[in-house]
Amino acid sequence: MFNFTNFFSKIKIPFFTNFEVYFDFGTTETKIAIKDKGIILRETTIIAKNNRTNEYIFFGKEASEIIGKNPEFIKIIKPINHGVIVDFDSQVSLIKRYLEQSVYIYFNNQIIKPALTGISVIPYIATEIEQKALKEALYKNGINKVFLIEKALATASGCGINIFSHKPSLIVDIGGGLIEIAIVGSGGIIAQKTLKNAGESMNKTIFNYIYLKYGVILGELTCEQLKKNLLNFNNEEKIITVKGKSLESGLPKSIKVKSSEIKEALINNFNQIIDNIKELLEISPPEIIDEINNQGIYLTGGMSKISGLGDFFKNQLKIDIIQEDINQYATIRGIISLSKNKDKLAKIII
Ligand SMILES: Nc1ncnc2c1ncn2[C@@H]1O[C@H](COP(=O)(O)OP(=O)(O)OP(=O)(O)O)[C@@H](O)[C@H]1O
Ligand SMILES: [Mg+2]
Repeated sequence: MFNFTNFFSKIKIPFFTNFEVYFDFGTTETKIAIKDKGIILRETTIIAKNNRTNEYIFFGKEASEIIGKNPEFIKIIKPINHGVIVDFDSQVSLIKRYLEQSVYIYFNNQIIKPALTGISVIPYIATEIEQKALKEALYKNGINKVFLIEKALATASGCGINIFSHKPSLIVDIGGGLIEIAIVGSGGIIAQKTLKNAGESMNKTIFNYIYLKYGVILGELTCEQLKKNLLNFNNEEKIITVKGKSLESGLPKSIKVKSSEIKEALINNFNQIIDNIKELLEISPPEIIDEINNQGIYLTGGMSKISGLGDFFKNQLKIDIIQEDINQYATIRGIISLSKNKDKLAKIII
């Protein structure tokens, strides 16, 4: 029978000769890179819209700074949720601004810009419609050609794994919107599990915990700070005083929050990740388990920066944990490295 994959993989690809831009539209953070220069943008995936004028007015850090302080007519939008576009127009505007802020600077804002080729990652669980939406958002921004690759493959490559080797590797990417647990090898994803209760959802869990325990309503950014500054798996007890709004009086109220409380609030989330890794290993053939046991598990993503998390996973799973210091940038670095070999890249384009 005619083998399409084989056929296409043999074609030399003239379309990659354009100026290449690499995208990782993370739920929390957008990362953009270009060939030879590396990562040129790291910005929060948030945008603020003036509902009266229908204009997008704040982007990234500036938009996140007004969360909870915005007047009613300014709407704060997170256009990516769980790794996929949930607000198309906002995402188009966000891409436009971030291209101007990063890529176009390299053309000295010249009027005629070179044709751009975009290579972006997309989560394994994204539907065909979600894939098309991402492509469309890039086309609308003047990207002539768009290629998508599976996020887990790029992340694995960014961790230094040769994804084309026949040796399977297990990676766990704990990001803002998704936890991707994937066994990769032979140029593809062999098995995977995706969980949605990642970093952003954990902020909400902290919100609920404090609300129920102290009757205090915390802002979203405060919950994020508690997670980043208190949570650790070293039994280190830190205390932070935060201000919220008392449910009883409606007035501002300060409370002291301890590391152990944040851990108590979130421990189920981490136990669930461990259970899912175990399940993935249980359904895998013995050859794969053996290789992974010898090699170790790669832990990455912004949330993997939590102190002591690697040792916690190691103790629970009895398998070594490999952590690179690049954490949050493994995915975008993976796109850069995969794009160096166009013949191999062509084999993993979706
Ligand atoms: N030092 C830290 N300690 C704990 N959590 C952190 C730290 N730094 C970042 N994070 C968390 O990591 C998450 C962002 O990670 P990352 O950039 O990998 O996600 P993303 O790529 O935007 O999302 P996704 O890939 O899931 O769509 C956020 O929830 C953030 O709070
Ligand atoms: Mg990510």
